[in-house]
Amino acid sequence: MNKLSTKEAQIIELPKILDDRGNLSVIEEYVNIPFKIKRTYLIYDVPGGEIRGGHAYKENQEFIIALSGSFDVILDDGKGKKVFSLNRSYYGLYVPKGFWRQMENFSTNSLALVLASTQYTPSDYIYDFELFLNM
Ligand code: TYD
Repeated sequence: MNKLSTKEAQIIELPKILDDRGNLSVIEEYVNIPFKIKRTYLIYDVPGGEIRGGHAYKENQEFIIALSGSFDVILDDGKGKKVFSLNRSYYGLYVPKGFWRQMENFSTNSLALVLASTQYTPSDYIYDFELFLNM
């Protein structure tokens, strides 16, 4: 099995099985994403102009997909920001641990699927940007 191993924040394109009956894409842990999936959550019904996130994780890694609609994920590694626009269900953004991340520009009826490498752990969050820069 092809073990995907990366520590880089990056867009990962998923396999696409094209079919006249409708297309299919697959996500398998350690094959398409470099972590084991412990948790999955959805972000939806985001009012126009709202911003989600605005924090970093000490350990948690994520893979974020725009299942429908579109939104931007802004990542900051402490040295600079990068904007990733997500708008298709056949690719997603891998976010390694230790990145400040924010989600914004949600389109109407957008639906974000987030696969996470850890269970929900409040102590894993860093909410203070200055503290993040110092870590
Ligand atoms: P948070 O992670 O701060 O959301 P975002 O980064 O998108 O702004 O979580 C918002 C609330 O949801 C917070 O009260 C914690 C709760 N929550 C859970 O209970 N379990 C989870 O897996 C997540 C992601 C959040």
